[in-house]
Amino acid sequence: MFSASVLALLLLSGSSANAHTYIWGVFVNGVDQGTFRGIRTPAYNAAPNAGGYANSPVKDLGSIDLRCNVLGDIQAPDTIKVQPGDNLTFDWHHDYRNDTDEIIAFSHHGPSLIYISPDPPTENSFVKLWHEGLYESLPHPQPGKWSTTSNIAKNFGHMNVRIPKDLKAGFYLIRAEMIGLHEGDASYAVNPRRGAQFYPDCVQIEVTGDGTIELPEGVSFPGAYNYSDPGIVYDIYCSTETKTRSTGPCTTTYEIPGPTVWSGAWAETTAVSLEPVTDTTTASAWSTWIKNSVVTSATFSDRKTITVVGTSTYSAKWSTTYQTPAPATKRW
Ligand SMILES: *[C@@H]1O[C@H](CO)[C@@H](O)[C@H](O)[C@H]1NC(C)=O
Ligand SMILES: *[C@@H]1O[C@H](CO)[C@@H](O)[C@H](O)[C@H]1NC(C)=O
Ligand SMILES: *[C@@H]1O[C@H](CO)[C@@H](O)[C@H](O)[C@H]1NC(C)=O
Repeated sequence: MFSASVLALLLLSGSSANAHTYIWGVFVNGVDQGTFRGIRTPAYNAAPNAGGYANSPVKDLGSIDLRCNVLGDIQAPDTIKVQPGDNLTFDWHHDYRNDTDEIIAFSHHGPSLIYISPDPPTENSFVKLWHEGLYESLPHPQPGKWSTTSNIAKNFGHMNVRIPKDLKAGFYLIRAEMIGLHEGDASYAVNPRRGAQFYPDCVQIEVTGDGTIELPEGVSFPGAYNYSDPGIVYDIYCSTETKTRSTGPCTTTYEIPGPTVWSGAWAETTAVSLEPVTDTTTASAWSTWIKNSVVTSATFSDRKTITVVGTSTYSAKWSTTYQTPAPATKRW
């Protein structure tokens, strides 16, 4: 069983972190809840790499990692309390939590999506609250304006969602996601070197109040996405005008993957003004890597020398009943 000791090893002191995009903080009605608080920060899902640059995306649509990323079954020690109608802002970053961060690599054009599920998820429990895809086409060879690069990255990593009106009190997971389609013209199932890149990240919330609305049936992760979905194998560079390729004419519209947005979600998602972040804006480099279910714990004294401390095998163990998170330990 994967234990808290591995979690403690996830983020150790060292040189600055390098990773793909993930959530660094959550604002509730504009107030920051603290860096990494309530967030199931993903592990590095690749081979050990000096300097920690190894946070590969999830690409296998059949993998449990598509649910809440690698180590997504492991709870954060804290849960964010919210009420129906609260405005949440997820603060996505790449290298550090401030306004000079690039958020997500500029080439990673694609949609952004937000789901909610009771915690823990069950079969078909993820309900879509919001999504945004291609919102403006530009002349070829430009890729058009996409949610990840032209909205979220341009807005300092801020992704907004509002807790559904009258939502019943309880523990929920919010699954927020960005998808990079820059190599999405090929299916990962056909060519594992390419394929759409998924960056899911889950936030633990507790909804309070006396709401009565229960979530409807939703979708499962894995399960909700398929390589046959038009929004998953999609050529973003062929999306902006009627151009013919050897494989046929280009599609100029984009269909966001997954189900439709639930009618109980707020029709409009508004940005609220945010108070400054007073918590830490840097993360320590990862010291735990996961590749092909092998966990390697290592230390590195500089960006070149790795000392492997030990290895173990990891398989996600999602509980079917709610477990109170283990008490907070300092993770950064
Ligand atoms: C995609 O759909 C096909 C046909 O229903 C199914 O066999 C396959 O397992 C699905 N793939 C994933 C990744 O869910
Ligand atoms: C959330 O944002 C909406 C739209 O700006 C606003 O009307 C509402 O009062 C906000 N909710 C809270 C709890 O502040
Ligand atoms: C953001 O943080 C980085 C790393 O600590 C630093 O180099 C940069 O100057 C900071 N930018 C701002 C605007 O604070």
